[in-house]
Amino acid sequence: MKLNSANINVMVKACRKASKVLIRDFGEVENLQVSLKGPGDFVTVSDKKVEKILIDELQKARPSYSILSEEIGEIKNDESFKWIIDPIDGTANFLHGIPHFAISIGLEKEKEIICGIIYDPIKDEMFIAEKGNGSFLNNQRMRVSSRSKLKDCIIFTGGPRLGSKNSDLALKEYNNFSSKVLLPIRKLGSASLDMAYVAAGRCDGFWQRNLSYWDIAAGIILIKESGGFVTDFYGKNEYIENKTILATNSKINKEMIEVLK
Ligand code: IPD
Ligand code: CA
Ligand code: CA
Repeated sequence: MKLNSANINVMVKACRKASKVLIRDFGEVENLQVSLKGPGDFVTVSDKKVEKILIDELQKARPSYSILSEEIGEIKNDESFKWIIDPIDGTANFLHGIPHFAISIGLEKEKEIICGIIYDPIKDEMFIAEKGNGSFLNNQRMRVSSRSKLKDCIIFTGGPRLGSKNSDLALKEYNNFSSKVLLPIRKLGSASLDMAYVAAGRCDGFWQRNLSYWDIAAGIILIKESGGFVTDFYGKNEYIENKTILATNSKINKEMIEVLK
C-alpha cells in the first residue's frame, strides 16, 4: 500500500530532486571537515540551494499556493493552501558531517496540516502522511509504539541553545524531567526526524520548547496519522502558539505531561 495523491506526488518529486544536491553537498562537507577552512558558509549556501530547488518544483506544480520557508520566509499567494518548508533540518549535524538530517515539507489547507513529508536522504528513508490516509515509511504503513510505561520508553528532545529565548526555562525542564525518570533521553539534532521516529514507533515520545513551525509542520500529520498524540506541555491543542510541543504514542501522553510539570 502507498500514498499517491497528487499533492503527495508533487512533494515526493521535489524532495527527490533536492536531495541529489543535498547528498552531493554532504559529501563535499565531509571533505571540508578536514580542510583548514572548514565547511563555514558552504552550509548556508547548501540550505539556500536546496530551498530553491524545493520552491521551484512546488511552485511549478502548484503556482497558486503560498509558501513559508525557513531561509526565504513567506511567499504570499492563495492563503488557503501553504507549503511549510525546512530545507535542511539538522544543519548542525550536516555541518559536522553527521549523517542525520532531513528535508521537511508540510502542506496546510485552511490552517490545518493535511500532508507531510520528511526525507532523510542519507538513509533513503521517506516518511509520508496524508490526512485520513495513514502514514508510511518507504511505502510501509507506520504505527506509533505501544509502550505504556514511561520507564520502558526512549524519549527524544532537543536544545536548548544557550542564550536563545527561554533557554533557562528549557534547561530547567530538561533537568526536572531527567531527575524524575530513569530512562534514556536522546538528542539527535533534527526535530523533524525526532517526530518521524515517534511516528514510526522507533521512539515513544518527544518534547521541545521554542521550535519553529517549519521544524514540526510535517511531523504533526505524521504523528497523528500514526495514531499518536500531539499537544503542548499541558495537554492542550495550542502547541504552535505556545511553542511547546509534546508528541507521543497514544499511551504515555498523560504521564509525560505529569513528569514535565
Ligand atoms: C534545528 C533542529 C534541532 C532543534 C533546533 C532546530 P535547523 O533546526 O531541528 O534538532 O533542536 O531547535 O532549530 O536549524 O537544523 O533547521
Ligand atoms: Ca529546523
Ligand atoms: Ca533548517
